[in-house]
Amino acid sequence: MRLKDLTDNARIILQDEYPDRRERDALVSAMVRDFLHLPGYAIVTEPFADIPESAASAFLDCAGRLSAGEPYQYITGWCEFGGRVFSVAPGVLIPRPETEYLCRIAVGKIRQMQQGDRISYGGGKLRILDLCTGSGCIAWTMALDIPQADVVGLDVSAGALDIASGQFSTDRPQSRMSVSAPRFAQCDILRGPSATGGLKDWKDGASLADFFAEPLDAIISNPPYILEKERVLMRRNVLEHEPDLALFVPDCNPLLFYKAISDWALELLRPGGLLLVEQNEALPAETAALFSGFSRCETVNDLSDKPRFTFAVR
Ligand SMILES: C[S@@+](CC[C@H](N)C(=O)[O-])C[C@H]1O[C@@H](n2cnc3c(N)ncnc32)[C@H](O)[C@@H]1O
Repeated sequence: MRLKDLTDNARIILQDEYPDRRERDALVSAMVRDFLHLPGYAIVTEPFADIPESAASAFLDCAGRLSAGEPYQYITGWCEFGGRVFSVAPGVLIPRPETEYLCRIAVGKIRQMQQGDRISYGGGKLRILDLCTGSGCIAWTMALDIPQADVVGLDVSAGALDIASGQFSTDRPQSRMSVSAPRFAQCDILRGPSATGGLKDWKDGASLADFFAEPLDAIISNPPYILEKERVLMRRNVLEHEPDLALFVPDCNPLLFYKAISDWALELLRPGGLLLVEQNEALPAETAALFSGFSRCETVNDLSDKPRFTFAVR
């Protein structure tokens, strides 16, 4: 089949689920890249290229799954985050661009702190905790971007921990970098920081007591924060495929994770240690109010100028 006929067919299949033409075109272009192994612009430069039957059938199968509401990243099994490729699968949240931005801010602030500490404490290995780690995108970004960081990610979901602890285990270029891989453990963070005593590495069952033996330098979290009543605003590819556990909080207690995170940070962060959280843009003041026990607290806007993050210093 010719490339042009194939992509025209895909656009028709996707029309109802993706009525926005730009979004539909972006998906078709990504499918050309990932399923036909051609650059997205080949649609324009090589419309009459002959596509082998097996590739054409995988391409149209993907279009069919997308039209049934399946997220593209679950179909391919991966997504890009901060310039790296992360594995994803149903059962784990697909990392979002806002969280990439959170990581950029976190890396900048932690590096700044590292420089300051070199002057005051002589430096050393930074301990960074990622609460509600999901795919491990935050934990891995910290481990890969902050030299000498000791990173732990916690999540209650076994499916998420399987994915997080398996990132970069195949022979991808990133996996050959000489960094310490983060460790991951199962933990219900709503039970509070006293839970750290018995935490075990998800992969080999070794105790994580060494990590929690000293005060931590930074805690980062993107916890569930979408209100149940906000479901009506969401698309079905999210509602029907991504885990409720990763997304929703009760309308009557929307900040329960932030209360817990504040407890973790007050108990485990060293004085001067950093806390960074992603939050519901409708509740910035309420979220910041929970961190009143910190020496500094500020709301940080995302690139669309929405108040999506809170940054606090212990
Ligand atoms: C919004 S997702 C964030 C995932 C990942 N950090 C990211 O930014 O893509 C929230 C995560 O919190 C986890 N979670 C939900 N309830 C939890 C709990 N009580 N304790 C620990 N983790 C929890 C979910 O399994 C999910 O992976």
